[in-house]
Amino acid sequence: MRIALLGGTGNKSIGLALRGAPKHDVIIGSRSAEKAEEAAAFCEEFLSEEGTTCTLSGEENVEAIADCDVAVFALQYQHAMPTAVTIKGNLDPSAIVVSPVVPIAKNGFLRYEPSKEYGSAALEIQSLLSNNEVVSAFHTTPAARLIDLKDKLGLDVLVCGAEKPKKVVMELIKDMEGLISFYVGRSRRHACSSRSPPFCSTYRLEVGSRTPQFA
Ligand SMILES: NC(=O)c1ccc[n+]([C@@H]2O[C@H](COP(=O)([O-])OP(=O)(O)OC[C@H]3O[C@@H](n4cnc5c(N)ncnc54)[C@H](OP(=O)(O)O)[C@@H]3O)[C@@H](O)[C@H]2O)c1
Repeated sequence: MRIALLGGTGNKSIGLALRGAPKHDVIIGSRSAEKAEEAAAFCEEFLSEEGTTCTLSGEENVEAIADCDVAVFALQYQHAMPTAVTIKGNLDPSAIVVSPVVPIAKNGFLRYEPSKEYGSAALEIQSLLSNNEVVSAFHTTPAARLIDLKDKLGLDVLVCGAEKPKKVVMELIKDMEGLISFYVGRSRRHACSSRSPPFCSTYRLEVGSRTPQFA
């Protein structure tokens, strides 16, 4: 599968790129093509040090999603909707959009603040990308653990969305060693899966500490 990671230079994306690249084509997206290429090169080097050879590419967000099968919105909540508007014209209707977005504020305390109108970031993204199917996933997989390739994980990934696209995402998760997907239901459950991280100690630990940066 061709997986585009929007906001691909962030910790969450780097973790997903490292875990996904051995079995899939991963394209790191960024607002800056240069930054995206650097992140792709970083992932290649990191994986090769662990004995895995794979090729990743890096492009601007709008280019990264061209012809992708899956586009992951690895962006903070406040940047997700403006980015959806920016990439909409380049996103093929067949592409599945994955939202790991937790509408959470990190000002000392964790505040879960989804839009009152939509109730979850995934449904808000869906309202903007009405031609595409949006699936919620990866809310409870901390970037710091994904990036640490020595970590065997053993993490549950709650998946929410319509039947066909959720199957594709669950197959993708199956290809990421150490992640086990659980289907939690269709679109009304999006809020349920995105609300779980604030109650998850691993996520809380990470918010309070710095995760490794790719550069
Ligand atoms: N980190 C975790 O452990 C974790 C766990 C569960 C869920 N999540 C969710 O995953 C998502 C990504 O988290 P993260 O920690 O990886 O985020 P992040 O590192 O804070 O940001 C990701 C990327 O967003 C891009 N970005 C920054 N400002 C932007 C703007 N104004 N417009 C567009 N793009 C912008 C940057 O990429 P460029 O500068 O290259 O464009 C940045 O590398 C969030 O919604 C978070 O709730 C994260």
